[in-house]
Amino acid sequence: MSNSQEILSQCEGGILTLCFNRPDKKNALNLSMYRELSERLRSADGDDSVRVILLTGSGDSFTSGNDLADFLASPPTGNDSPVMQFLLAISEARKPIVAAVNGAAVGVGVTMLLHCDLVYAAQGAAFQMPFVNLGLCPEAGSTLLLPRMMGHQRAAELLLLGETFTAQTAREVGIVSEVHPDENLAAVARDKAVKLAAQPAASVRLAKSLLKREYRVGLKETIVEEGAQFMKRLASPEAAEALQAFMQRRQPDFSKFS
Ligand code: COA
Repeated sequence: MSNSQEILSQCEGGILTLCFNRPDKKNALNLSMYRELSERLRSADGDDSVRVILLTGSGDSFTSGNDLADFLASPPTGNDSPVMQFLLAISEARKPIVAAVNGAAVGVGVTMLLHCDLVYAAQGAAFQMPFVNLGLCPEAGSTLLLPRMMGHQRAAELLLLGETFTAQTAREVGIVSEVHPDENLAAVARDKAVKLAAQPAASVRLAKSLLKREYRVGLKETIVEEGAQFMKRLASPEAAEALQAFMQRRQPDFSKFS
């Protein structure tokens, strides 16, 4: 398995920690990071030494989402693309996943949390799903899971306006289990992971699977359909304008697009 410095991976006491480690780019996920994450998630399923997966980020961010330069240079083109493989792997993971959201969580940095089981956020963490703002569309099954969690209107507000929201709001709408002072987050998430790893593993896996039983098939279909639309939108003039604007550090202008 590839072993890059951009995903720090460590397994100890039944807890596989995967840490996004590209702090100079706010832990934006590039193609090789997606590949490594998918491989590690898939292999954890068949590895008895892994009882719990813990996701976190280094520096001041969880992850700023997909690397926007990669969207321009090597956009995903099908279900075998690294980002789609990651979304399918995390949504199908059989082992429980704990997330410690230590800072900015943008795009897939938020939508991956919908596939985690226990999500702890630092008080100062900031969340955003700016898919529409980028001329794209929501992904990762979020159009199925968010309305289910919080109702259509709240989901629509988060997705259509794509504004930044606080850890407290993320807790109120159900994306986050608990909010903790920034300095306590790592210890709290670790304690919960240790507790979970001490539970009977087969029962934990069964409970997780039963929790998802009702929407498992629909979820995969939604991820694939959203992915197909997302890939088309990446080729749209609106997305080109939004991505160029990000690179040029200016506001995008969508007024000429109907
Ligand atoms: N892809 C590629 N590069 C990214 C990135 C991303 N998703 N997010 C941040 N970066 C880079 C910036 O370009 C900058 O690089 P530079 O130092 O070489 O210029 C560096 O990371 C620091 O980012 P910066 O924007 O200066 O930090 P900030 O603290 O002001 O803001 C964010 C942090 C996360 C709020 C902001 O970077 C952001 O909005 N990023 C884009 C998020 C996004 O749209 N993700 C995709 C969703 S589909």
